[in-house]
Amino acid sequence: MSTLLYIQASPRGRRSHSIAIADAFLDTYRATHPQDEVLTLNLFAAHLPPFDGFAVQAKYDILHGQNPSAEAQAAWKTIETLIAGFTAADKYVWAVPMWNFGIPYRLKQYLDIVIQPTYTFSFTPAEGYKGLLVGKRAFIAYARGGEYPEGSSAAGLDFQKKYLETALGFIGITDIQSVVCEPMLAAGAAAAAEKQHRAIARARELAASF
Ligand SMILES: Cc1cc2nc3c(=O)[nH]c(=O)nc-3n(C[C@H](O)[C@H](O)[C@H](O)COP(=O)(O)O)c2cc1C
Repeated sequence: MSTLLYIQASPRGRRSHSIAIADAFLDTYRATHPQDEVLTLNLFAAHLPPFDGFAVQAKYDILHGQNPSAEAQAAWKTIETLIAGFTAADKYVWAVPMWNFGIPYRLKQYLDIVIQPTYTFSFTPAEGYKGLLVGKRAFIAYARGGEYPEGSSAAGLDFQKKYLETALGFIGITDIQSVVCEPMLAAGAAAAAEKQHRAIARARELAASF
């Protein structure tokens, strides 16, 4: 039995295109992997602690092999719980909107929480940085209002897919499949519905063998 963590980074619920695509992926996934457990985390509904001075201090203490202070340890407790929930999964499904060419701030906050030395990556002078989440898979549904086709001048503005997949790769998650759904605003509602329809069909195809 595998555990799949479904991370929703849109606050738009039933109106969200990325969630609609990821939901369709999971619909097929559940039908084809009935023994697996699926846990859902909506990053706009979840309690995410601020990654503040004490949390940063704890991170640096751990990075330098020192024990965090009492205040830093207290701040670290909730962070550790979130990291444990993240690392316990075998597979990840992400629903990710593009916001200002990147990812929504709640997803950035979540990544700042879970990407931590000794938990999800290691560093040694001899080996440099190493991702610790090896052998895990991810599916990502991306939605954008505009269009950023590969090879076009707009492609350079895509800091959504590039950033998220760089961050996941840093912690060892390199087996990533994705569907990019665009343009969800720029070409009107009918074009968006057609693009979503196609993205859902592709997501269902990928889910069966995920
Ligand atoms: C705060 C905000 C910023 C956005 N910035 C961009 C952007 O930089 N580029 C773009 O193509 N679309 C942008 N959009 C449009 C969204 O990417 C688009 O509506 C997409 O469908 C959102 O995903 P969702 O439907 O899963 O919520 C933005 C939307 C919001 C709410």
